[in-house]
Amino acid sequence: MSDLRLALAHIRQFTDITPRFGLILGSGLSALADLVRDPVVIETSQIPGYPASTVEGHVGKLVFGTIDGVSLVFVQGRLHVYEGHSVFNSTFPVRLLAGLGVKNLVVTNAAGGINPSFKPGTLMWITDHINWTNLNPLIGSAPSPFPTSRQACHVKFYDSEWTTKAQNLATNLGIPTSTGTYLWTLGPSYETKAEIRAFKLIGADAVGMSTVPEVIQARSCSMKVLGLSTITNFAAGLSNDELNHQEVLEVGRRVRSDLERLVLALIAD
Ligand code: HPA
Repeated sequence: MSDLRLALAHIRQFTDITPRFGLILGSGLSALADLVRDPVVIETSQIPGYPASTVEGHVGKLVFGTIDGVSLVFVQGRLHVYEGHSVFNSTFPVRLLAGLGVKNLVVTNAAGGINPSFKPGTLMWITDHINWTNLNPLIGSAPSPFPTSRQACHVKFYDSEWTTKAQNLATNLGIPTSTGTYLWTLGPSYETKAEIRAFKLIGADAVGMSTVPEVIQARSCSMKVLGLSTITNFAAGLSNDELNHQEVLEVGRRVRSDLERLVLALIAD
């Protein structure tokens, strides 16, 4: 049996739910999973074929359940390519969600702001992306037991109807949001000033180290995708301050409650 079939068989021992939503949330938003009613929590380390996290003490979990009567699954512990995972392995969780029947995926991340009007704390709906790494999870991917496509849907990655709806929801909640293009860099080091100048020239509004491979994989499995970046800092060279990880975490904490309200409203809608 393929890894994916074994993984699905393992999960199906604990839950027969077909979640309406899958959520892959950037660090800092894991508390949302605490709101799940009657959660079924599965350690990813117990799932056959699930790539092991390379971060010490890092717990990977899938949390299944309902919020406001809506079934969903949270993927806790995103796999980054900069941790040493292949781009194919880093998107294993997305193929797993597709195998479970998930049709709608919400992805969030932290990002550096390139658009000069984006101050730290800005929430940006991702309307398009630039794949600066040129890595792609669909290259040479083993045929999966589930229908996936290498070519289809490669124009529209982020669902515009869902994004518009989400923007309106945010406005109704009094939460200002923007839209923009997210550029994926490999990391783990931050960008240079020259790189950020180049990224601005080619049309990037924000830069980060995740999300794009997951979105490519999700679209090839025909999922609808909604993407949201929290701008946690000015990208390199756009402010006088040195970029530091503490700042990224601090801004993430500040906007967390807005983000949580927003994600909950999206689910309930
Ligand atoms: N660059 C890359 N990734 C990031 C940044 C950044 O400035 N901020 C948060 N994640």
